[in-house]
Amino acid sequence: MKHTVTTILQQKAEGAKITMLTVYDYSTAKIMDESGIEIMLVGDSLGNTIMGYPDTLSVTMEDMIHHSAAVARGTENALIVTDMPFMSYQTSVYDAAFNAGRLVKEGRAEAVKLEGGRTFCPHIKAITEAQIPVMAHLGLTPQSVNAFGGYKVQGKDEESGKNLIDDALAVEEAGAFAVVLECVPADLAALITGLLRIPTIGIGAGAETDGQVLVSHDMFGTYGRKSPKFSKVFADAGALMRDGIGAFIDETKNGKFPDEEHSYCIDADTMKILKEYAEK
Ligand code: KIV
Repeated sequence: MKHTVTTILQQKAEGAKITMLTVYDYSTAKIMDESGIEIMLVGDSLGNTIMGYPDTLSVTMEDMIHHSAAVARGTENALIVTDMPFMSYQTSVYDAAFNAGRLVKEGRAEAVKLEGGRTFCPHIKAITEAQIPVMAHLGLTPQSVNAFGGYKVQGKDEESGKNLIDDALAVEEAGAFAVVLECVPADLAALITGLLRIPTIGIGAGAETDGQVLVSHDMFGTYGRKSPKFSKVFADAGALMRDGIGAFIDETKNGKFPDEEHSYCIDADTMKILKEYAEK
């Protein structure tokens, strides 16, 4: 079944939890699509997981387009949401709509995600008016790491909690079809989920949001650095890869690989002729 903005909204109405994972390449997209993930997020977390930067700030439009198009080639059923990178929408409403359009035209995204609340409602409105669905992202918004002074749980005191509620209501009003809540106390995320008609998708926001998202490198144990407290290793692909690489090194050094099964053969007569030719 093809997942669309309409089916995702329907899931909220039916109380059916929404699943979303980050993905950055064709092969992994194919596995996730076949496994039944409903939303593929081509996250700008690729700055960390794929490119090894300490944050997402250096990620460019070209990076996002390149990875989004690869994911799209491996996806049949899931809804593809692609992140708008730092400075692709903060500069103006025009830039926001123009760059969202590039992610759709060149990156084959079916929706875009951007970070921020009331400040970016005009941008959300302009993009949705261009017929491009927008997923909003509130709470810990990694593109604001320098303004926040680090990666911290958001909405813990009265003022920031009220701000988060007002931002969530505002992005819904501006036309967002869903909102990611990152690093928000579970009770506050549950309150916001109850207030909104659009689905909330949590990451470090407790169990009461309408859906959950994880960074796939965290859940597969393949990220080379410490993962956040809220992420869980569901399958330790990192350990499997280390075992496989160790076995390849051993077998190659011991002359066990490649064996006959993994080699091509030539008939003996032809080989004899070739040897005589080489020795001339
Ligand atoms: O880029 C990303 O991976 C994200 C998730 C943390 C939601 O935005």
